Amino acid sequence: MSSPAVTAEIGDLPETSALSSGATVWLTGLPSAGKTTVARAAADRLRANGRRVEVLDGDAVREHLSAGLGFSRSDRETNISRIGFVAELLARNGVLVLAAVISPYESARSEVRNRHATNGVPYLEVHVAAPVEVCSSRDVKGLYARQRAGQIRGLTGVDDVYEIPAEPDLVLRTESLSLGESVDQVLTLLAKRGLL
Ligand code: ADX
Repeated sequence: MSSPAVTAEIGDLPETSALSSGATVWLTGLPSAGKTTVARAAADRLRANGRRVEVLDGDAVREHLSAGLGFSRSDRETNISRIGFVAELLARNGVLVLAAVISPYESARSEVRNRHATNGVPYLEVHVAAPVEVCSSRDVKGLYARQRAGQIRGLTGVDDVYEIPAEPDLVLRTESLSLGESVDQVLTLLAKRGLL
């Protein structure tokens, strides 16, 4: 039984709550397309405006939640599903989630979208869409060079599939946008959907 004092404190909470302001922005695209860079920069801007933000990055998640998973179709599906689960959980509780995940399969992305829809949680898909030649020349992590040298196989966009999103909420052509412009486009999308 709660004391009258505690009841009064709970009763004093404001009607509106931060729970309604969560959302997931899912950034999908090839390695070195700019997903993580855009996610982090957008997160910085949103935090500066007082939002609760989390970046879920495929590389980082693979060190913890998805440790031990590789890059077979089945392992990637499991990885994407786990990240989608955590994203929805956070977003449902008022966090603005920026997920930077290659997520090469339409079906796996649909599953994440449906999970959000089922729970009434806003979800936006952003295709970070640099051509593979541009990604390969950026080669932030040296993956394309390693693939060319025969050290790795199954690199997304080169010798493994990337299914281009059919109906993304936004396409970011990072080869012709500055980082600031990319972030602006993400924030504009959020604003248009009433999520800022
Ligand atoms: S996903 O396919 O399961 O969605 P995720 O975004 O989590 O991929 O992880 C991609 C990261 O794994 C890349 O940024 C890269 O550092 C690393 N990686 C290692 N091997 C591969 C590969 N064959 N294809 C894609 N990414 C790879």
